[in-house]
Amino acid sequence: MNILVIGSGGREHALCWALKKSPLVTQLFCAPGNGGIAEVAECVAISAEDIEAIIKFCKSKAIDFVVIGPEVPLVIGLVDDLEAAGIRSFGPRAAAAALEGSKGFMKDLCREHGIPTAAYRRFADAAAAKAYVATQDLPIVVKADGLAAGKGVIIVQTRDEANETIDDIFDGMFGGAGAEIVIEQFLAGEEASFFVLTDGETILPLATAQDHKAVGDGDTGPNTGGMGAYSPAPVMTDEMINATIERIIKPTVKAMKERGTPFTGVLYAGLMITDEGPQLIEYNVRFGDPECQVLCARMASDLLPALMATANGSLADIRLEWREETALVVVMAANGYPGNYEKNTVIEGLDEAARIKDVIIFHAGTKQQEGKILATGGRVLGVTAIGKTVKQAQKNAYSGVHAIRWPDGFCRSDIGWRAINRGGEE
Ligand code: AMP
Ligand code: GLY
Repeated sequence: MNILVIGSGGREHALCWALKKSPLVTQLFCAPGNGGIAEVAECVAISAEDIEAIIKFCKSKAIDFVVIGPEVPLVIGLVDDLEAAGIRSFGPRAAAAALEGSKGFMKDLCREHGIPTAAYRRFADAAAAKAYVATQDLPIVVKADGLAAGKGVIIVQTRDEANETIDDIFDGMFGGAGAEIVIEQFLAGEEASFFVLTDGETILPLATAQDHKAVGDGDTGPNTGGMGAYSPAPVMTDEMINATIERIIKPTVKAMKERGTPFTGVLYAGLMITDEGPQLIEYNVRFGDPECQVLCARMASDLLPALMATANGSLADIRLEWREETALVVVMAANGYPGNYEKNTVIEGLDEAARIKDVIIFHAGTKQQEGKILATGGRVLGVTAIGKTVKQAQKNAYSGVHAIRWPDGFCRSDIGWRAINRGGEE
């Protein structure tokens, strides 16, 4: 089969790397791809959001199945348009992608179906939002309703800060994504990501994972797209997994089906593990990045049949096997990220790093130019490793990091610390 993957991050490199191993794949393409994806797939210079060009390309290459990585094409209806053109794809239609595309929609669904999530209100004007904040405890969380590239959530500590944030969002800080806002109660606890595949009916849980969102060691500093991750996540005990499936995932899948907008694809629940059990912080309608990198590293089954069964409604027939070891990814980002950073700096030592046993290098913001790999984005590499324990996977990943020569980049030095502390590993 001819497969097209949409996207250009570490997540899409991991998906291409996993799909490349499938005996079912004849030709593998990625639009637009990156410098590392070019090693496993043919990269085509089409933006992930250019629906017309994607459909044209699929027809010209007789693409059998499209795997969509990022949220924006899903929210703008790529799956719907592919379907109308007779092309099968992995991911939810726009009406179901609203679970990520509109925080207000997601929160209303939770309220209607008793799904545990922080108390909230939706606002379309600043005065009402400020009046509400005046009556609430602090800290409180202010969110732009729409997609804001992971930046639309602000935890405020004072009422003045809340009022300023409300004004900034309504003044267009996040463009159209901030036409409406959600204000919600702050939840304390440890965060975890939980992923399931669903064809709209059957739910197939994937392995657990946890990411490190903050830019600095000890989970300090501003939030990023994710500076590292590991799988499995010890915080997700069997009890926590069951509670998440029963109280959060099942009612959501059922509600989406009953609305006539069944969710098909990967449903990613961002959770806060609180004293009262798991609370839903947000839904994403795609794989997490970098979590996808550790999930693909641990997946022992062929990924393609699982993705196709998700799209075809035959997920009940699929069983997935996972390697028992831990996988851990350390993200290397350009100096300055998540703020401003330099582009087109040279990265060396990638081949040496990739030769280290149990190490896989996934690329995010890179491109190949005249035989060199250049950094082009904020998050640039995902140095991924397998190990018998979290500690061993961590050691392996950092030996990969140390082999890479990139003075213009940095990484956290403590990815996995929560799991190591929890497990009491040596
Ligand atoms: P989201 O994009 O909704 O996942 O939010 C991004 C990050 O903001 C989350 O991963 C949490 O770290 C934090 N966050 C969002 N909502 C809350 C909340 N209600 N309480 C505490 N932290 C939150
Ligand atoms: N790692 C978080 C995300 O993909 O949204």
